[in-house]
Amino acid sequence: MGEVSIRPAEQADLAVLAEVLGEQGFYEDRFTRQAKGLGVLFTAWCAARPVGAVYLWLEDAEEPPIRGHLPGVPLLNHLEVAPDVRNHGIGAALVHAAEDYLVGHGHALGALAVRTDNTRAARLYSRLGYRDWGHGTVVCYAERVSPDGRTISEAERCHVLVKGLPDNAPLASRTGER
Ligand SMILES: CC(C)(COP(=O)(O)OP(=O)(O)OC[C@H]1O[C@@H](n2cnc3c(N)ncnc32)[C@H](O)[C@@H]1OP(=O)(O)O)[C@@H](O)C(=O)NCCC(=O)NCCS
Repeated sequence: MGEVSIRPAEQADLAVLAEVLGEQGFYEDRFTRQAKGLGVLFTAWCAARPVGAVYLWLEDAEEPPIRGHLPGVPLLNHLEVAPDVRNHGIGAALVHAAEDYLVGHGHALGALAVRTDNTRAARLYSRLGYRDWGHGTVVCYAERVSPDGRTISEAERCHVLVKGLPDNAPLASRTGER
């Protein structure tokens, strides 16, 4: 695989992002939020092909328990890597890009929710230093596009994980993590 670069999404990316990663409505929504300064949609590229994305949610959390226990804490949302390029470090690189942004903007904590049955993602987050927040699982709502094209909201039970961020060097430059 060639070199992977990560940058915030641009308007012109949306069509090809949806083509490769699907979920057009989701990426349009997150891009609109980014344009309003409410978050950052990080995208990973291998040459001209998008290979992954993660949205950094900087608004208050939608889920009341998360809002209550983690007020003002940014959330990494919807990390996704194209199936054919998984296990090459792109997921970790996207997380690091989001964390670098947070460190650069003075945030001390990052958090995320991961479905209780998503052991693969949970292993990655654990390796990257995310730990259970200690307040039990939370019902989150994920938007999905149904076969007839409607966007529906699906409840899913999630673990909430948090990570304390350092206040100095960019995380992407650290050693010891792939
Ligand atoms: C979860 C997901 C984002 C991980 O993306 P990824 O790009 O495969 O992640 P990474 O490559 O950074 O890490 C995955 C594994 O590959 C390994 N790996 C990374 N680079 C490697 C390399 N150069 N050589 C060998 N193994 C490598 C990592 O050690 C890691 O191992 P682990 O599973 O034991 O932790 C991806 O599987 C995905 O899109 N899943 C579907 C959506 C999803 O579940 N998203 C999470 C929502 S919370």
